Amino acid sequence: AAIEPKGEPGIYDVLKTASDYYRQQLKSAPQAIAYLKGRGLDGKTAAHFGLGYAPAGQALKQVFEDYDWNKLLADAGLIGEDEENHRRYDRFRDRVMFPILNQRGSVIGFGGRVMGDAKPKYLNSPETPVFEKGRELYGLTQARAAIRANGRVLVVEGYMDVVMLAQHGVEYAVATLGTACTPHHVQKLLKLADEVVFCFDGDKAGRNAAWRALENSLEYLVDGKRLAFLFLPEEHDPDSYVQEFGRERFEEVVTQDAVPLAQFLLRELSAQVELDTEEGRAKLVHLAKPLLAKVHAPAYALMVKKRLAQLCQLELSELEPILSTGQ
Ligand code: UTP
Ligand code: MN
Ligand code: MN
Ligand code: MN
Ligand code: MN
Repeated sequence: AAIEPKGEPGIYDVLKTASDYYRQQLKSAPQAIAYLKGRGLDGKTAAHFGLGYAPAGQALKQVFEDYDWNKLLADAGLIGEDEENHRRYDRFRDRVMFPILNQRGSVIGFGGRVMGDAKPKYLNSPETPVFEKGRELYGLTQARAAIRANGRVLVVEGYMDVVMLAQHGVEYAVATLGTACTPHHVQKLLKLADEVVFCFDGDKAGRNAAWRALENSLEYLVDGKRLAFLFLPEEHDPDSYVQEFGRERFEEVVTQDAVPLAQFLLRELSAQVELDTEEGRAKLVHLAKPLLAKVHAPAYALMVKKRLAQLCQLELSELEPILSTGQ
């Protein structure tokens, strides 16, 4: 984190000022309010997450008199500079703003959503001295108490997923920020709760994200913690699902239908081979071997190996030496 001399405004201060301004602007932006209402969001939830609106144009000029030379604005990722004419521009223009907070509740960045079909759908803050995407979890400040109370953290893909789940009473969800779930994320999640449930979108991208999360989790598995994966129906994400089916049904599927990590792993690998042939079963061992080598949790590793042995019609004692040889 940036260390600022006392009394001098720093990068956190400009981010806070911008966030307050965007929040204020939302109140007088009927089209943004209509957009959020149209998506089912209520004012209380919008306030709870500090949602705002970034007007079009050089809006931050209204807030920062020294807009044209303030270095912190650029450092904070709030403005960019045109290479040719050196004119500055607001990074976020005409977007609904989701402030991203760090552990201490300071604003460290933003996600901004277009209200129409323009691309990109979400514009995120760039990496800055205070914002490292691969480490931060959106919504953690708001979710922390509920995570502790439930002993469970739900990991979703998007800002709207976190916000709408919270509005429906599922307050223990956080999102990775348009990146895969990194090893840093996994380590952080495992410190937060004994149960981590990944609940990505039901589309292809969501299923790929789930596999990436699995790969990045293996090394950090701890006996006594549970990691599971919930696969929503193809056309859904947590936001649309909770709006259509409600909290009770959503929590029911999280509890009942989330697939434990080991099962997900073996299911995905089994789907790539012909289990009724010797070649297929040998290939399964071959595919599982490098993944299992990452697992340090001793009891967990043993149980996955037992299941793998069953699938391959081998005794555990026959399988183990194969898994522990080099190559
Ligand atoms: P999705 O495409 O699933 O969007 O991307 P969403 O969260 O469901 O968005 P809504 O419901 O249409 O508003 C999932 C997440 O991936 C990141 C964002 O964090 C988004 O929430 N993303 C997506 C980006 O960073 N940029 C994009 O252009 C799209
Ligand atoms: Mn809360
Ligand atoms: Mn998606
Ligand atoms: Mn989505
Ligand atoms: Mn969505």
